Amino acid sequence: MFDTIIRNGNLPDGRERIDLGIRDGRIAAIERGLEAEAGAVIEAEGRLVSPAFCDPHFHMDATLSLGLPRMNVSGTLLEGIALWGELRPTLTREALVERALRYCDLAVSQGLLYIRSHVDTSDPRLVTAEAMIEVRERVKPYIDLQLVAFPQDGYFRAPEGERSLERALDMGLDIVGGIPHFERTMDEGRRSLEALCRIAAERGLPVDIHCDESDDPMSRHIETLAAETVRHGVQGRVAGSHLTSMHSMDDYYVSKLIPLMAEARVNVISNPLINIMLQGRHDTYPKRRGMTRVPELMAAGLNVSLGQDCCMDPWYSMGSGDMLEVAHMAIHVAQMGSIADKRRLFDAITVNPARTMGIEDYGLAVGCRADLVVLQAGDVTEALRLKPARLFVLRAGRIVSRTEPRIGHLAIAGRPERIDPGRDYRPA
Ligand code: FE2
Repeated sequence: MFDTIIRNGNLPDGRERIDLGIRDGRIAAIERGLEAEAGAVIEAEGRLVSPAFCDPHFHMDATLSLGLPRMNVSGTLLEGIALWGELRPTLTREALVERALRYCDLAVSQGLLYIRSHVDTSDPRLVTAEAMIEVRERVKPYIDLQLVAFPQDGYFRAPEGERSLERALDMGLDIVGGIPHFERTMDEGRRSLEALCRIAAERGLPVDIHCDESDDPMSRHIETLAAETVRHGVQGRVAGSHLTSMHSMDDYYVSKLIPLMAEARVNVISNPLINIMLQGRHDTYPKRRGMTRVPELMAAGLNVSLGQDCCMDPWYSMGSGDMLEVAHMAIHVAQMGSIADKRRLFDAITVNPARTMGIEDYGLAVGCRADLVVLQAGDVTEALRLKPARLFVLRAGRIVSRTEPRIGHLAIAGRPERIDPGRDYRPA
């Protein structure tokens, strides 16, 4: 007897017409033709059943603030940071919580149940940290929310940056952040990483650094991050977010760098929506794309994930809480259009970020928490192409969101790619 059975679902690995039995909030059986009773049955009818989406890089304290106090006219990263600096003194806990909860409602409806958010600790009032800790508690029934202490204005460069970051960690933020390319000098950037990795090692916390979000090929802080990771023995617990300067680096140098990153088991987080919007802004033509080297990093065995980064804030006027939109952009920017590539990028919004975030009971296996999405698509490649309706979203086996199927959707779901069940696929 199960609480719920999802019947005839297609799984991301290509298995078709599989039944999932759910008991006490967890997956208790995965097999074809499951003969058992259940309190409720969801008929998937050959549609994709995926583990819930994971966003390993977001800014929950800035989300849905678009237009406050004004728009970003140049559209650049630096004007975004300046604009956020204008907004920050006016932030209140109530307004931060209200916007974040609105975003979380959107996220749940998109099947996004795991989010790692950076929280700006530059303002010593730390109203951002207070508010996001409240949000973390309030959304717990629906969303696993991890919070990074993020010195947006620089660990050394902000007036009380060092102390504020440690105070935010004392308040209960989960992860140590940093932004070495925004410190005053390359050397201060390097020293900030030394300090931040030491703090993380002493406190037993993970590290997630906004690292080299720059078109400057000489922005090489990732090299220091990898070295400090090894020095402190925290391999696998460190993430490098953005890494856009790798796009512009010399190939010879990258041939040395990627093995260093692999040795340190740095988790890579690329943010394709924001990178394609913000990078290359000083170029005329040709304009660089600016996204890090996703296929090459995957091929080297690194754990590569995709993040949304922003949704309607000083840096990005778009966004919809949809991780399929993020992967859709990555397919184009990284030119990863094969079936195998698309499956790798689907992993980059599900299992890979779950690994980065250290979620141990994640996935489609017996014993995993039943955090699942039934999509109006037959398989992974169709889901990425159509960004379809999330028909059912389940949190610990309970339906937390339902969306009606889109009329006319099946008429355009031609499925030519389903001829090949992805035999060239191997997990990244
Ligand atoms: Fe970010």
